[in-house]
Amino acid sequence: MTAQPGSQIRIIPQKHDPTSKVNFGAIITGCDMNNLDEDDFQAMRNAIYVHGVVIIRDQQDLLPINQYNFVKRLDPEARAEHGWGTSKEAQEITGITGKLKWYTIPGTPAVQMFGQGYQGNDHYGLKAITVQGTSHDNYHAETLPKENIARGETRFVVFHYDGIVYGAHPSRVTTLRSLRVPRGPPLTVRWDDGSGRTMKAQAGATAFYSNEQLYDLLTPEEKALADNSYWETAPHPFVWTGNGKVRSQGVGLVSSEKLDLNELPPWSVDKVYKYPMVWVNPVTGKKGFQVRAEAVRKLYLKSAPGAEECIVEDPEQIRTWLNEILDRIIAPEYINIPSVEEGDVVAWNNWGVMHSATEYPEAYGVRTVHQCHIASSTPPLGPYDSTSTKGELKV
Ligand SMILES: [Fe+2]
Repeated sequence: MTAQPGSQIRIIPQKHDPTSKVNFGAIITGCDMNNLDEDDFQAMRNAIYVHGVVIIRDQQDLLPINQYNFVKRLDPEARAEHGWGTSKEAQEITGITGKLKWYTIPGTPAVQMFGQGYQGNDHYGLKAITVQGTSHDNYHAETLPKENIARGETRFVVFHYDGIVYGAHPSRVTTLRSLRVPRGPPLTVRWDDGSGRTMKAQAGATAFYSNEQLYDLLTPEEKALADNSYWETAPHPFVWTGNGKVRSQGVGLVSSEKLDLNELPPWSVDKVYKYPMVWVNPVTGKKGFQVRAEAVRKLYLKSAPGAEECIVEDPEQIRTWLNEILDRIIAPEYINIPSVEEGDVVAWNNWGVMHSATEYPEAYGVRTVHQCHIASSTPPLGPYDSTSTKGELKV
């Protein structure tokens, strides 16, 4: 389909395997992200929200500053800073995400280099850097032996949306440009949850599932509950969740062990948010079930607008309730792992899909990506206009 009369941009829905139930994803061609007029920009924005994930081909010449400009154009009021913050302090307080070392591309406020391996003597001004790839070892309770990784088996590291959800709202859209793609036979992603499930993935690929599809998998009663309920984050949630590990299928927690609030770095109540359980797609109006397992400290459950509210604070009760819901979507038929080529930019609606990195063996070579997202200037939209942004934590 052509975006606009006269436009070169083509947006083609991704073709999925006949066994797949994935209903999102599109390929975009004919786009020059260095030069997007307003009509083409709006077509791109629309495509991200309609298709959830888009793979924009042929962006080999995209300047890092223009990758940032595209993300900023999607949220002009947002702070000119990466969604995780970029200071040393920010790296320390992001806890589990802080285990990833990131490198800002000089001359940009929010484009980070990730990947794996030696990035050359001078990569856009970053000198002689060797990047440690993302490993599931930091997140999973039981890890795959290194021999399995070397022979092409892997795991989803952890499904998440981007953002620190403490003093900064989740980023609206994330963009990921592949500059170098590892080469080799497809890897086998293992669930290792007793189900025997596996699926194939390109080395270094990013996997996605849709929270809008997850919402559709809820019963009518659960949808009513989700529509009317809220969840509250912990202060410094990724420090608070401490050593709590993720299940081997890459989503949901193994235990409800948490740090005590007084063990956390200094925090303030005004940065602790209360989010709707359901976020509404700003373009299509579709609803997505959006609770972040590692960050949720409290549930405010209500089955109808006038119903009595039930507050749940028991971490074990929250964990088991949430895992049962997440189990419905963490199945091969709901996961989209688009193959990418060098020069592709993958852009996604961070308020509608979850994504995960996959580990790959060193023998496949170097991976280089430029990633950009910025904390949203506004909280996500709930199904009603009663979106609350401040938690009710008392000190
Ligand atoms: Fe991410």
